[in-house]
Amino acid sequence: MQMEKNKSLQEYNTFGIDVKAKLFATFNSVTELIDLLSHENLRSEKHLILGGGSNLLFTSNFDGVVLKNEINGIELVKEDEEYYYVEAGAGENWHEFVLYCIEKGWAGLENLSLIPGCVGASPMQNIGAYGVEIKDRFEELQALNISTKEVETFRSKDCQFGYRESIFKGTLKNQYIITSVTFRLFKSPQLNTSYGAIEDMLKEMNVTAPTIKDVSDAVISIRSSKLPDPAEIGNSGSFFKNPVITNEKFELLKSEYPEIVSYPAGPDHRKVAAGWLLDHAGWKGYKEQNYGVHKNQALVLVNYGGAEGSKIYELSARIVESIKSKYGIQLEREVNIL
Ligand code: FAD
Ligand code: EPU
Repeated sequence: MQMEKNKSLQEYNTFGIDVKAKLFATFNSVTELIDLLSHENLRSEKHLILGGGSNLLFTSNFDGVVLKNEINGIELVKEDEEYYYVEAGAGENWHEFVLYCIEKGWAGLENLSLIPGCVGASPMQNIGAYGVEIKDRFEELQALNISTKEVETFRSKDCQFGYRESIFKGTLKNQYIITSVTFRLFKSPQLNTSYGAIEDMLKEMNVTAPTIKDVSDAVISIRSSKLPDPAEIGNSGSFFKNPVITNEKFELLKSEYPEIVSYPAGPDHRKVAAGWLLDHAGWKGYKEQNYGVHKNQALVLVNYGGAEGSKIYELSARIVESIKSKYGIQLEREVNIL
């Protein structure tokens, strides 16, 4: 077991924030993870489980141990008439896993192409894009209970999945480490091309009878045109969730802002595009020295290089205040603040 001290985390978070961890170690099996957690130097330290660091904002050095998940492996564990059941180690890169499934003809994850990060973090906030969330393809997961050091199985109902939410982000926060996730994938693809610009993109690509690979390619093109690549500009994707408000409140807003973008969210609520709210409150492209709000997508806060996480957090607090006072809507951060 190798433990590094005072380790820079700049390469380990897509915001590219230059903070240090007091201690840093990697693990590539459950046994190694249990050894690390039981190690006398680490038992009393607070810990942070790290995947790809693509949903985090570090606002200061991490005064504890960062444990980087590198549990790999992809296995077809079961199949029945309709489905393949595929288990992936929590340290597998998400997008590479999606591409692997597409290559094998295991359908259902194609709309979730190009989301950064690792498999193990995917249930944390029930990742979603282009009309699919992982809860729709989820079978079960294995997670280590940090206090008992036992591995437990969680089925869908145990995870309390919601929009960008799960029990692991809520009441069980910091109590479990996800070690593998099993997905239920279609044998006969059930394409979902109705969301956003997928159909237009397929037309542009001259595709008339799309395969799962075509849908993945279309999603990759759309995403690449909209979202900044963290390799070029530091960011963590959408910084805030799209707020869900009552139909009544929505109608009032709509009368004042007829162009407001929204989607149905059950019989009594609507989900409002937070990017639209920020954009029309004048935040798009806002820049302060080396950080700001992305010029094409107002929901993405960015680090142009060398920014401090605390400054980006302060900017997010100003945005929350401004949206509250302009529209009476309380924004919630999607990104995990550390
Ligand atoms: P990290 O950032 O490493 O960790 C996130 C949180 O999960 C932390 O609290 C961490 O401690 C915890 N955690 C990580 N792994 C484990 C584990 N094995 N066990 C327990 N806790 C763990 N998200 C979407 O939902 N949809 C999108 O379309 C989307 N687009 C994005 C686009 C860009 C350009 C970027 C930068 C981000 C985007 N995201 C999106 C957010 C992000 O990619 C996802 O939330 C992703 O699942 C985070 O994975 P990660 O491995 O990087 O997690
Ligand atoms: N919009 C504006 N101005 C902006 C940004 C957006 O007017 O600056 C409008 C767009 O014109 C569009 C609407 O807002 O009509 C929605 O924008 P977009 O399609 O870009 O999607 P989003 O709601 O901003 C959500 C997810 C993304 C996910 C996409 C596609 C959240 C918080 N974000 O973004 O997830 O990839 O839909 O499904 O739900 C993430 O979670 O990190 C993330 C990137």
